[in-house]
Amino acid sequence: MCGIVGHVGTTSSAPYLLQGLTNLEYRGYDSAGVALWNQGFVIEKVVGVVAPLTQKLLPLAATSGIGHTRWATHGIANHINAHPHTSVDGRIVLVHNGTIENYNELAIQFQLVDHLTSDTDSEVVASVLDRLLESTGSMSQAIQELMQLLHGSYALVIMDAQTPETLYAVKHRSPLLIGIQEHQHVIVSDASALAESFTEFYVMEDFEYAKVTASDALIFNKLGQRIHKQRFIPYQRSIDRSLGVYQHYMQKEIEEQPVVMRRLIKEWKIDDAITTLIKQASRLVIIASGTSYHAGLVGKHLLETMLQTPVDVLLGSEFAYFPPIQVESTVYLFLSQSGETMDSIRALERLKTTNAMTISLTNAEHSTLARLTHYHVYLHAGVEVAVASTKAYTAQIAVLALLANAVAPLLNMQVELSNVALAMEDVISRSAVIHDLVRSTMSDQRSSFFIGRGVDYALAQEAALKLKEVSYIQAEGFAAAELKHGTIALMEEDTPVVAILSDPRGTLTRSNILEVQARSARGIVISSEQVSQPTDDFVVPAVASLLQSLVMAIPLQYIAYFAALDRGHDIDKPRNLAKSVTVE
Ligand code: M6R
Repeated sequence: MCGIVGHVGTTSSAPYLLQGLTNLEYRGYDSAGVALWNQGFVIEKVVGVVAPLTQKLLPLAATSGIGHTRWATHGIANHINAHPHTSVDGRIVLVHNGTIENYNELAIQFQLVDHLTSDTDSEVVASVLDRLLESTGSMSQAIQELMQLLHGSYALVIMDAQTPETLYAVKHRSPLLIGIQEHQHVIVSDASALAESFTEFYVMEDFEYAKVTASDALIFNKLGQRIHKQRFIPYQRSIDRSLGVYQHYMQKEIEEQPVVMRRLIKEWKIDDAITTLIKQASRLVIIASGTSYHAGLVGKHLLETMLQTPVDVLLGSEFAYFPPIQVESTVYLFLSQSGETMDSIRALERLKTTNAMTISLTNAEHSTLARLTHYHVYLHAGVEVAVASTKAYTAQIAVLALLANAVAPLLNMQVELSNVALAMEDVISRSAVIHDLVRSTMSDQRSSFFIGRGVDYALAQEAALKLKEVSYIQAEGFAAAELKHGTIALMEEDTPVVAILSDPRGTLTRSNILEVQARSARGIVISSEQVSQPTDDFVVPAVASLLQSLVMAIPLQYIAYFAALDRGHDIDKPRNLAKSVTVE
């Protein structure tokens, strides 16, 4: 989603800004822009990818500037709405991540309505700050007053035409870090934006602001008092962002899943405090969104079977505003690839007002969820570039299994996960069969269904989400028996209905497939060896029944990938989507 990079130093800023924005591209965005100070503001914006900015900006010798990738929330993706935004009288230029809830009220209060050019909340912030600066005469004072006025979330990096070699940063509920070097500083929304050049950071906390020059980064609290921070050095895992022999990251990441399983066998470890906490819990609640929520649904089956502890799986967005009745000694597990999903962060903030214990399981060790929970568990999936999550999903399921097994040992996980890796490899070696199946049944369809019972229902929901995300084919995941209670009305000639069959308790799904076939739909059966029949369309090798979903996930991910490939879509950056969803 939106990304921020600011740079001030003694050498040219443009290379840092362009590098940072390019590194943030994977998060998903629809427009980008940069402001540099070159004896006046030079502002360049682009709708679409960052690359066209390079030619215009690289020749400029400016030593301070700010850049932004925007994922549209307030107004469509166009030049006018792209950041940076300028205040009405041109003195302030800023970039903003987050959402200002009271921007309409502020626009009225400061009589800005007739002067605004964009649809964004951010432009209002620029002009409000400008007015506050006029009335107070001091940027520090103006920022302190601004923080009192703004309702919502904001990471702001600000330039003032009167002090162009100073950047100001303001943070509330949206991440912001200051990268430190001797003669230069950067301000980024994510340490990975400039991980090649900056290894030490100050992490800003809510209601802090900073005054950053080439030589200094001074941080203040909301009262204007100076804060001295420890330097934070993120542990840099080797990040492989290369595509190698693959055509798309999604394909690469699907096929990396055996490697992830083997990495987990080797590197996964767990803090005793976490296993004790889970052992003592009377109830577990998994909070997540999107694919991570679906991993949680699979995890519920695993955890309940292995621990005999009740598990609820809730969407972060629902929990944040409609929390269920709290039960004593409940432990909350936050499942997230990025650790930056705002819906889950809001849910966590809600819990912060209680004494509930929280654990995050994320693929980003220094993410907001990782920092704000009591304990953190790393997923070891490796960097996931494609917007559609695949390897982080199976890593989440595997880590939940490892966690359950650490609390109540049932399986030899080394052996079982290595069998999973082998079974995944077998599926990958036969991916051409899945492609043929998809080409003949799915790629030219408008809508589709995935059905299953028990854990296969959880898999069906994820399979449908994956297909929608990348192929734009309407897809629904259903509890197999539910179709006949209404949705079967949608069956038409050749409508694809994929039955997922891995659990022997769920074989009645075969009857549900017969029901849709009797109505001319195209039944497709993906089964596991334990329950397969010779006529099934694709059979995956059997592994320990508790871990079978890890292998079943692969053909379902391929269905989405191949359908998108046949339809010629931008598979790694599907329309309208962002990798990290940092708005509510
Ligand atoms: O980073 P998170 O796992 O918290 O993200 C949650 C969802 O936004 C994410 O899973 C989304 O559904 C993916 N695009 C799925 O492929």
